[in-house]
Amino acid sequence: MRRKIVAGNWKMNKNVIDAQQLMAELKDYKNNTTTNCEVWIAPPSIYLMMAKDLYENDEVGVFSQDMSEHESGAYTGEISAGMLESIEATGSIIGHSERRQYHGETDSHCNKKVKLALEHGLIPIYCNGETLEQRKSGQHLDVVKNQTEVALFTLSAEEIKKVVIAYEPVWAIGTGETATPEQAQEIHAHIRQLIAGKYGQEVADEVSILYGGSVKPDNAVEIFSQPDIDGGLIGGAALNKNDFAKIIEAFN
Ligand code: 13P
Repeated sequence: MRRKIVAGNWKMNKNVIDAQQLMAELKDYKNNTTTNCEVWIAPPSIYLMMAKDLYENDEVGVFSQDMSEHESGAYTGEISAGMLESIEATGSIIGHSERRQYHGETDSHCNKKVKLALEHGLIPIYCNGETLEQRKSGQHLDVVKNQTEVALFTLSAEEIKKVVIAYEPVWAIGTGETATPEQAQEIHAHIRQLIAGKYGQEVADEVSILYGGSVKPDNAVEIFSQPDIDGGLIGGAALNKNDFAKIIEAFN
């Protein structure tokens, strides 16, 4: 059975008071609700320890939004896989399109980060997805194939089973424009086929693939009901407990 996941990527939002409040609301929600999926959050790294302290029973998985490709050393501003391991973080988002766009991150960087995360017992949420131009020119399947192969296909079968993939079409992020369930399903099935081609169907059937890009309470049910979509990586709608909870409840 593939794990079903709703993960919130808070990006660069919320001051400490607001972060603490949302974390507490989610704890309360998780403790009083039976959810049919795992609930993860990726707050800004300055709040990770606070989240770990609050979720003492691991009610909510705690992820960083990025991590360094290096073990340690003179890399000002970075946080390492070892640091995340030491606070018992659940994992890290890797290769988000905003990291690619604003920080020049490539799939070979992502490959190093994914491996390092796994070495430190962290779950990598590896993000991929095409731009609008790439989709318009019919390159989307090839782009996602290349991203998946370069970043992930040096892993062993045992390793790739631990990776969560998030397909996030760049044109759907923060734009209010969502991929149709059919468009998303096409790419998710494509990614799964690529994994099956390399590692076998049994391995491919164990990898959770999330969709990200303007998932909202009113479209989550339709998106999550697609056969190869195992949940969502949520941006804007994860900043509000009620919206996030409604998305979680799309699995009910
Ligand atoms: P939005 O849900 O705000 O479109 O963001 C998606 C995303 O980038 C999650 O990582």
